[in-house]
Amino acid sequence: MYNIAIVAGGNSGEYEISMKSGKQVELHMDLKKFRPFLIEIRGTKWNYRLESKSFFIDKNDFSLTIGKKKIRFDAVFNAIHGTPGEDGKLQGYFDMLGIPYTSCGLTTSALSFNKSFCKDVVAGYGTDVARSVHLYKGDPGAEAEVARHLRLPVFVKPNCGGSSVGMSKVNLKKDLKTALAVAFKEDDEIIVEEFIKGRELTCGVIRSKGKTIAFPVTEIISKKEFFDYEAKYQPGMAEEVVPAEVPAKVAEKCREISVNLFRKLNCKGIVRFDYIFTGKKFYFLEVNTVPGITSASIVPKMANAFGWTYSDLITNLLNEII
Ligand SMILES: Nc1ncnc2c1ncn2[C@@H]1O[C@H](COP(=O)(O)OP(=O)(O)O)[C@@H](O)[C@H]1O
Ligand SMILES: [Mg+2]
Repeated sequence: MYNIAIVAGGNSGEYEISMKSGKQVELHMDLKKFRPFLIEIRGTKWNYRLESKSFFIDKNDFSLTIGKKKIRFDAVFNAIHGTPGEDGKLQGYFDMLGIPYTSCGLTTSALSFNKSFCKDVVAGYGTDVARSVHLYKGDPGAEAEVARHLRLPVFVKPNCGGSSVGMSKVNLKKDLKTALAVAFKEDDEIIVEEFIKGRELTCGVIRSKGKTIAFPVTEIISKKEFFDYEAKYQPGMAEEVVPAEVPAKVAEKCREISVNLFRKLNCKGIVRFDYIFTGKKFYFLEVNTVPGITSASIVPKMANAFGWTYSDLITNLLNEII
């Protein structure tokens, strides 16, 4: 029997989604092999709740003491979207303690969480990316910089955000200033990116039993102007078509690019690569190294389409690290 800490929560706008992901993981863990402990990580409070009592984690060794019993963990199931679970911070901590975890390592997590740095690296591997500028708070002439390098419409995003929080699509020059201010409220750095017209495709890739497996490619069709927060989390605001209704060759190409990026970026666990497909090219948007795994999330649907139950997904992720 292995003790598994499911870490969930985190310090970003994705807190609630992460708690839902964590609970779903707990619910589907194979109890014949694993003993799950759902640990909520929020700021410096890391706690486990049992019968409405809170037990706090000893951060010296990531252990729990319940009564006289000290509980150590054999592995961590990472269900934290956003900081500190998706950006390398917890990865560094668990590396130092020698506790294995289900997601990518420190460097891959930190790189991929920085949208601009990640795009530069991915472009270096020959993948198409939208033209963009990376701006820091206090940079003089942000608007002029955007005007000099990019054509409207553009997307303005916090550089290290998620769930489309603080993000806007700007169609008119007069709206740029407000969009920059909104994004800078969320982050000290932002990325402004040219809008790419096309279909939104996403591909989940997982490492399991010595193989790198690409799940069926999925199309995201948003009822909003783009896949914004509402489209992501309000039922009925976006449709996810698994497998995507695209020619087999297109899906194959998408999987091939994704498996290649998975290997090049040294990913672990399950990650999701997002693209805009123009009909000719795949433009890489971002990689989610801790993608949502609530009952309504895309990854479990992809896994189902591949022939795996939710429990299979959890078990296979844990078997890779134990
Ligand atoms: N350059 C772009 N061209 C077209 N659509 C985009 C572009 N950038 C973002 N989007 C849309 O915005 C959504 C969120 O952007 P993304 O970079 O994935 O941020 P987040 O990390 O918040 O999910 C995407 O799923 C897509 O619908
Ligand atoms: Mg995204």
